[in-house]
Amino acid sequence: MSRTAFRSGLAVPALAALLTACGGGGNGVATAARPQAFERDATPSHESRLRAWHADLRAARLVARMTREEKLQMVRGWSICGVGFSPLGAGLSGPGFVPGIPRLGIPDLNMTDGGAGIGDCSSATAPFRPRAAPEATALPAPIALAATWDPELSYRYGRLLATEARAQGFGMVLGGSIGLLRDPRLGRAFEYMGEDPVLSGLMVIPKIRGAQDQHVVMSLKHLAANQQETARNTSNSVIDERTLRELYLLHFEMAVKEARPGSVMCSYNKVNGDWACENDRLLNKVLKGEWGFDGWVQSDWGATHSTIKAANAGLDEEQFLPTHFGAPLGQALVDGTVPQSRLDDMVRRKLRALMATGLFDDQPVVTPIDFAAGEALAQQVAARAAVLLKNSQGVLPFTRDTARIAVIGKHADRAMLSGGGSSAVLSPGGPAFVYPAQPGQSCPLQPGPGNWCEVWVRSSPLQAIQGQAPRASVAFADGSDIAAAAALAAHSDVVVLMAHQWATEGTDLPTLTLRDNQDDLISAVTAANPRTVVVLQAGNPVAMPWLDHAGAVIQNWYAGIRGAQALASLLFGDVNPSGKLPVTFPARLDDTPTGGADLADGDVVYAEKLGVGYRWYDMKGIEPLFPFGHGLSYSDFAYSDLRVSGDGREVSFRLTNRSGRAGAEIAQVYLSLPPPVGDAPKRLVGWKRVPLQAGETQRVTLRIDRDRLAYWDVARSGWTVPSGLFKVMVGASSRDIRLQDAIVRR
Ligand code: BGC
Repeated sequence: MSRTAFRSGLAVPALAALLTACGGGGNGVATAARPQAFERDATPSHESRLRAWHADLRAARLVARMTREEKLQMVRGWSICGVGFSPLGAGLSGPGFVPGIPRLGIPDLNMTDGGAGIGDCSSATAPFRPRAAPEATALPAPIALAATWDPELSYRYGRLLATEARAQGFGMVLGGSIGLLRDPRLGRAFEYMGEDPVLSGLMVIPKIRGAQDQHVVMSLKHLAANQQETARNTSNSVIDERTLRELYLLHFEMAVKEARPGSVMCSYNKVNGDWACENDRLLNKVLKGEWGFDGWVQSDWGATHSTIKAANAGLDEEQFLPTHFGAPLGQALVDGTVPQSRLDDMVRRKLRALMATGLFDDQPVVTPIDFAAGEALAQQVAARAAVLLKNSQGVLPFTRDTARIAVIGKHADRAMLSGGGSSAVLSPGGPAFVYPAQPGQSCPLQPGPGNWCEVWVRSSPLQAIQGQAPRASVAFADGSDIAAAAALAAHSDVVVLMAHQWATEGTDLPTLTLRDNQDDLISAVTAANPRTVVVLQAGNPVAMPWLDHAGAVIQNWYAGIRGAQALASLLFGDVNPSGKLPVTFPARLDDTPTGGADLADGDVVYAEKLGVGYRWYDMKGIEPLFPFGHGLSYSDFAYSDLRVSGDGREVSFRLTNRSGRAGAEIAQVYLSLPPPVGDAPKRLVGWKRVPLQAGETQRVTLRIDRDRLAYWDVARSGWTVPSGLFKVMVGASSRDIRLQDAIVRR
């Protein structure tokens, strides 16, 4: 798992032993199809432009006044979760802390995780220190946010993370996570934004911007090609140049150029032979050189492998132990193997980012968190994120006169599942339940660095459903007794079956099969009552051998602290489902790009090249269980009258809500490039989430950025828009294309 330095005990042996015992973890690309609010937010304000310009000058001046010791202080970690490594203190019990320099007015920098809410790294167990007020809003997981396809919600999500971080005293959120779902078993799938670089890029940009507009640094992570947790500290991702650029780097490129994150976190793995955190090509040439990244590169926790090589390759900060950037970096400067100018650059980059985001001049102040505001956003995201995968025979929505409702599933009377690792959140009142990730592991009633446990948040499907149907009899069975659950189902009008699949960083799922015999439970319950809605609490695609027998299926992700209320509002039709899958659900693991082979150590060769996600299924002509972009509604939308401008960059069509119920459709635009380019049959180039009243028609217009038409030309080492025939496809999913046109570019 991640905190390898703890394991190897290089720097702080006693602490290492202690923590090991705790089991610690483990060209201008732009955007298309932005909704109004995002478009407005995309333009940097006059104030922020001025601040950025001023930051360059101020940072350079400050660096000139610093001693070498002071500079060295700023490029390494000083504590973890309340355990300090020196008299300089331990900061605020976050995973990272860099003490300030009062003589120069440089403030402390306290970092917190923020995958699905402000992470709680503290623990009451010594030597860690509990945070003063560790509670935060447990939001739906980032993959759920991606399933909303709603950049404006993403902006608000980022803003909320920043607001709550500031309220706890933190100025930096390690929360801009992206990475493509190359293999559906990826343990961090729930923390990322799906399988498509354009969807991930366009969704993470507003999230970072939303946070940084609150004067908080948000890091973009994990660069790059960190596509499996199995052997994440040792494996080497081997990827050809075109695939790297068009897929595994593209979303990072978009985010760096458009959101200007203050920091980028390099990943644990190697990329084409060099560790990501000492990869000169990746950090110096591409990130800082080509993309113009002006913030600082921070290592993932324990991902630094050297002093001289890493420093000269562009790493600007080692986290979390000072194994390589502590005394050894001082020595390398004396020896001249790392030039002084490099240290100056590391410090200048950090100060510049703190100043450009506004954090330097506007330090966080501990204040009470507005949990009502957090919960309102959490519920809105959860309701927009849920994907209605199947709905047969009008099972959904339920009518309010339904007399007997069964709610079945582990903890469905009290709680909902969340994702693990550094993304676990301690919500008010603590978790409802926690379970060890490994046998023998201890799990105090809070997540923490040494106890990355399975956390269930307090959000009760049973109560929320009863709240929607006060006159109904709502009965509960936890599903541990399959016969009893089936008997209850048989005597109910409808059944809500809450299934669960926990995932965490540090490990991948062994298969897509639901754990704990849940397929047997679902088969028995759906056999007893076909009017069963299976609700999947999962961050990954799930195998569904029982699919034909289920009345309805909802992919509900990890839905957060108001997940149950959001779910109940969908079940009863107060909210019309509008989420769409940001990942393909395969029919079989064998069908996936990795063929279901064991995720292994050593060289991980991306032999499928451009064939990731829906691209793979299109290239191979494989029918997925549910395609990328799929998601049903209680409404029915018709597409007509496609018009494409001569250059292929303006696409418009008519969208009609043919139902008697208001709803929203996420209309997607795909492109196929001229055949000689050798691209996959289609690529997502834009989308629009269109709310429509019952019977309403709108003309929808999208502007496609020029870079969406380009491929990475290896010979030229640059993006090229080819000439020839481009096919434009508009539809409700990657496999439900409703309109097509073609243009020829010369
Ligand atoms: C994770 C990072 C996280 C860091 C600090 C690492 O294990 O990979 O995503 O930000 O820990 O908690």
